[in-house]
Amino acid sequence: MNIISAKDYQDISLKASEFVIQTIKELDKPVLGLATGSTPEGLYKCLIDRNNEKQVSFQEVTTFNLDEYVGLTANHPNSYRYYMNEKLFQHIDISIENTHIPNGSAKDLEKECVAYEELIQQHNCIDLQILGIGHNGHIGFNEPGTSFTTRTHLVELAETTRKANARFFNSWEEVPSQAITTGIGTIMDSKQILLLVSGEDKAEALNRLLDGEISEEFPASVLKEHPNVTVIADEAALSKVQ
Ligand code: F6R
Repeated sequence: MNIISAKDYQDISLKASEFVIQTIKELDKPVLGLATGSTPEGLYKCLIDRNNEKQVSFQEVTTFNLDEYVGLTANHPNSYRYYMNEKLFQHIDISIENTHIPNGSAKDLEKECVAYEELIQQHNCIDLQILGIGHNGHIGFNEPGTSFTTRTHLVELAETTRKANARFFNSWEEVPSQAITTGIGTIMDSKQILLLVSGEDKAEALNRLLDGEISEEFPASVLKEHPNVTVIADEAALSKVQ
């Protein structure tokens, strides 16, 4: 793994945007894997700025998001489709039909998982997958114990993950308990992976990733088996790394 040390969150976002823009410029029809959550918000802001300044175009870009809650429609403010539209897609020159997010309100969720996985394969997999990391090492919504061979699948969210996400909902009952996520196998098929880690509260997880063993009990550890992973982490996140 290639580790890039950043000063702070702003610096992570800037460095990550340069990385993403370089990939977009290098490839003919780039396929990006996108994440939601707090970590990539700064990156998306930088990408919007660069797009507005005409330094990068998304007209040839296709995107696949990692995951979506089950039970929230696209116009629910806490759905990941809503997040992506608000925080990135509607501010850049991407064609919305080239942006893909699992449909968490599909009637047949199993069928939706299979179709989503097939669509990624049809695009010859993801060129650059952007990831955040959960405190328990989850990537996408692949919680500890998930097989490293999984494809897009339906998951029960861990209590800790629901708690971490509860800040976005009005009440505990409203926090979804299921999600669709691309699998660890899907993520590992990506040609390149960019993991962003910010803040002291992620320091433990980053230390475990870098120093710990590869185990399904800590999903992100699988990234050590991938040939092309870059981690951009700030000083606070790197503070526990020996
Ligand atoms: C989001 C996702 C999650 C987050 C992780 C970190 O699409 O798949 O794995 O990347 O939970 O979330 P934040 O960035 O909010 O700390």
